[in-house]
Amino acid sequence: MAQLPALTLAGTVPAAAVLALPTRPGDDRATVLAQPPVDVTSLLDRDKAKGEAGELIALPTEERVLLLGTGDGGPAALRKAGAAIARRAKSQESLALDLRRMTLTGEGLHALAEGLLLGTYGFTVKPSAEPRPLTRITVVVAKPETLADALARAVTVTRAVASARDLVNVPPAEKSPQWLAAQAKSLLKGLAVSVRDDAQLTADGWGGVLAVGMGSSRPPRVVEASVDNRVGGKGKHVVLVGKGITFDTGGISIKTNDGMLTMKCDMGGAAAVLATLRAVADLKLPIKLTVLACAAENMPSGSAQRPSDVITQFGGTTVEVLNTDAEGRLVLADGIAYADTVLDADVIVDIATLTGAMPVALGRKTAGLFSNDDDLSEQLESAAAASGERVWRMPLTDDYRQALESGTADLRNIGDPRLKLNGGSIVAALFLQEFAGGRPWAHLDIAGPGWSGGEDEELTKGGTGYGVRLLTTWLEQLAVAPTRKRSRAS
Ligand code: BES
Ligand code: MN
Ligand code: ZN
Repeated sequence: MAQLPALTLAGTVPAAAVLALPTRPGDDRATVLAQPPVDVTSLLDRDKAKGEAGELIALPTEERVLLLGTGDGGPAALRKAGAAIARRAKSQESLALDLRRMTLTGEGLHALAEGLLLGTYGFTVKPSAEPRPLTRITVVVAKPETLADALARAVTVTRAVASARDLVNVPPAEKSPQWLAAQAKSLLKGLAVSVRDDAQLTADGWGGVLAVGMGSSRPPRVVEASVDNRVGGKGKHVVLVGKGITFDTGGISIKTNDGMLTMKCDMGGAAAVLATLRAVADLKLPIKLTVLACAAENMPSGSAQRPSDVITQFGGTTVEVLNTDAEGRLVLADGIAYADTVLDADVIVDIATLTGAMPVALGRKTAGLFSNDDDLSEQLESAAAASGERVWRMPLTDDYRQALESGTADLRNIGDPRLKLNGGSIVAALFLQEFAGGRPWAHLDIAGPGWSGGEDEELTKGGTGYGVRLLTTWLEQLAVAPTRKRSRAS
């Protein structure tokens, strides 16, 4: 599993293999270097200099001093700058950034830290892999103590993001539902974690999870974990539901080879909710948070579900399964119905790599946001803006609901193609909405941003851990203003 470098704040520049000095558009060399790039005192300390005759202390050459563009100095620019310098210093053992020339806010430091730590995230299963050389990063600021809390928060959240990436990047042969449940237990050590096995799921009627999992020799699991840090029992009970398809072949409605190449990422939603719970617990946010990871492997086999099978979801809704590749909604529907009818959630948010149509609409870096509640939607949009994980609200157009009507069951799992309504992401969201029981609910379709094809700012190739930063930021904002109603400009 990935190791992140240690990130610390300091008031003076330590000895480091690479030193970065910030620049911004319009700077000239004189201003950039007005502050000497080297802290001579610590340099002398490091080399135990005595000033004796003939003693030579090499001043670092300019090659180790890099001028780092910081653009407008805002969080997005600093995130990008952090990733760029960390990548450049990746093969060195230490990096220092002398930012005393800048006014760095807590938000700015947080974004910078994400770039620094996540931009060099690496995952490999090669046993010969060298240990990562970059182990120490120091950010030098005028008053380190004023930013200590922001740094601690950034490191906590970033670590959670890295653990979500790890879960996604593990190859699918290793990544069974049982494995995911075991990983959840170790990630969430110290918290209340329970795992339902297939026998328990059968007894409790989790028909969606069971139907999707029945083609695999590795049976499904549902992880339920929670933390309750409410003060005096006040505050909302939030339930997050994550899609945990450990590999999506499509089942009997099998995908093409190309179509399934990245499908180990299909448990990215489950990884995000588990990691978010880790972050929320570490940050001791005064809320009650329950997460559900609905894990199954979608495989074709003699025991797999067939197109046209009818299943009974948790809570009793029947569904005609006309395409076994539309499996995410089946596992999520059980989780959402459980959140509604058993957990009595105040708010439900699900997160899932749900539809290939979503990145067609929004591209690879923005999640689709669907919600039956404008206030919740605005909260998530504002958390997205603050966290840098982008969302775009999509319409839950009621007209499309007819596409889900079935002659044989309460619902069908894909839109009736004869109606030619298209909008596959919307139809999927409308399906999920049926299970929320009218409670405030939002659905994040992360089929685009859950996976990255290569290095891109703070992203690295593979799982992105998308959702951890967005959801943690949202829950923090909720903890600060639990009954916040945003005033609308009229
Ligand atoms: N896991 C896929 C969606 C997906 C596609 C995620 C590409 C990430 C990248 C999902 O289970 C799926 O197969 N959806 C189908 C639904 C269809 C059969 C209605 C799709 O989008 O093609
Ligand atoms: Mn599928
Ligand atoms: Zn899927």
